[in-house]
Amino acid sequence: MEQEHGSIYGGLKAVLPQVMQQFAERIEEFQSEMIRQSGSQAYEHLNYRIKDEESMREKCRRQALAESPENALRTIHDAIGFRIVCLFREDVERLVEFLRSLSDCQVVQEKDYIRKAKPNGYRSYHMILLVEAPFEDVDGRKPGQFYVEVQLRTIAMDAWAALEHEIKYKHDIRNPELISRELKRCAEELAACDVSMQTLRNLVNCDI
Ligand code: GTP
Ligand code: MG
Repeated sequence: MEQEHGSIYGGLKAVLPQVMQQFAERIEEFQSEMIRQSGSQAYEHLNYRIKDEESMREKCRRQALAESPENALRTIHDAIGFRIVCLFREDVERLVEFLRSLSDCQVVQEKDYIRKAKPNGYRSYHMILLVEAPFEDVDGRKPGQFYVEVQLRTIAMDAWAALEHEIKYKHDIRNPELISRELKRCAEELAACDVSMQTLRNLVNCDI
């Protein structure tokens, strides 16, 4: 595809936010339905973004890929990214089930970094979906298919990821082993809190 206005997303630059918006609305509808049915939120908050031009170009270069719309939208799967942050671990599981159940979305990949945390302590549930939308895609199909990356986590996991991200980008750390060890310990403490909080919620719900 020819690159318009020099965007790495070519002619799809304007379409991506629309695909993202439509998908966001479906998650928000699930939220409204949950609140209506049970009085509880499906998630605490939801963020989404289109990966900015420079980050996408940098990712292509890192993977030794040409900086093209095809690579940005077919080879790389996180041009459209969602992060769903939940109060409880059980809420993450319910949302994973919801996303799996969407008939016009194909689950391409799931990574369960909650059951199996990354060695550094990172926890989150990652899904790559191929979402159908009423726009022409990079292969010229209409309706088109667009990759969407969804990260699902608890507030505690989100707090840890934000703190670790901040700390990691300091390049002049004098004692990296100590920092890594302590970060991992914090992740484990937060994970233990998540389990306790889920148990508390279950106890409270049983009391009703
Ligand atoms: P990417 O090249 O970043 O897509 O990595 P990947 O293909 O190995 O995917 P993975 O599912 O492991 O991670 C994708 C995204 O999850 C990253 O872009 C981050 O947003 C987040 N992530 C993964 N690992 C970490 C981590 O150790 N710390 C933090 N803060 N975020 C992470
Ligand atoms: Mg990735």
